[in-house]
Amino acid sequence: KPYYVVIPAAGYGSRMKAGKNKQFITIEGVPLLIHTLRVFQEDSLCEGIVLAVNEAERNEMHKMTADAGITKVIGIVPGGRERQQSVFEGLKALSGNPVVLIHDGARPFIRTETLRRLIEAVDKDVGAVAGVPVKDTVKEAVMGSVQKTLDRSLLWLIQTPQAFYLEDIRSAHKLAEDDNHPATDDASLFEYAGKTVKVVEGTYENIKVTTPEDLMFAEAIIRKREEER
Ligand code: CTP
Ligand code: MG
Repeated sequence: KPYYVVIPAAGYGSRMKAGKNKQFITIEGVPLLIHTLRVFQEDSLCEGIVLAVNEAERNEMHKMTADAGITKVIGIVPGGRERQQSVFEGLKALSGNPVVLIHDGARPFIRTETLRRLIEAVDKDVGAVAGVPVKDTVKEAVMGSVQKTLDRSLLWLIQTPQAFYLEDIRSAHKLAEDDNHPATDDASLFEYAGKTVKVVEGTYENIKVTTPEDLMFAEAIIRKREEER
């Protein structure tokens, strides 16, 4: 199945403490967002990319993608206050009812194999998300006091990409907006709308570059991949 991808890149990267949007930080000489975009540029099933960006960064983002030879960007939309609004704006820029992937600009290490699993699993009224089994024990605590220990064998760390049919996810976003229902990922809006979400196996390398030490992990992953090639 061919697909489109919406990439939210309109954050500020406050936890990265770089003094600028982390999407512009270079890792091994290439901006973070460009690492991410290259994966979709090179995937033959990707028909087009919609980017959500900060209005003030629009020109810089446009120039950066053009300079890097990213030709699949079919839309650049202004992001919103939260990631949820940025994604919704991106979804509004697409038409018809294609499969759409939603993928964080800050996750440069997504594998094509994971993309294939996602588009295989997605269906009408069925979303698909990439995830990895939790390695640590997870406990719930209130003010430093443990309330309970969750059953690790059931727990997954959920990543992006997340895959849906466009009409399904757009109506889930509309419902959440109407109800003022916030969420940190798109699949939970799908769940909120009463629809099914499947998890497919991703990779532990598919990190979201969030805090300064993630840059160190990112460099290590890139170097390892260069050695593999
Ligand atoms: N994002 C967005 N619009 C927002 C907030 C976030 O498009 N209003 C994007 C980010 O650019 C990022 C992705 O959503 O690619 C995941 O968000 P996160 O890792 O939290 O990035 P930031 O919000 O930029 O970082 P922080 O939360 O540390 O400020
Ligand atoms: Mg954020």
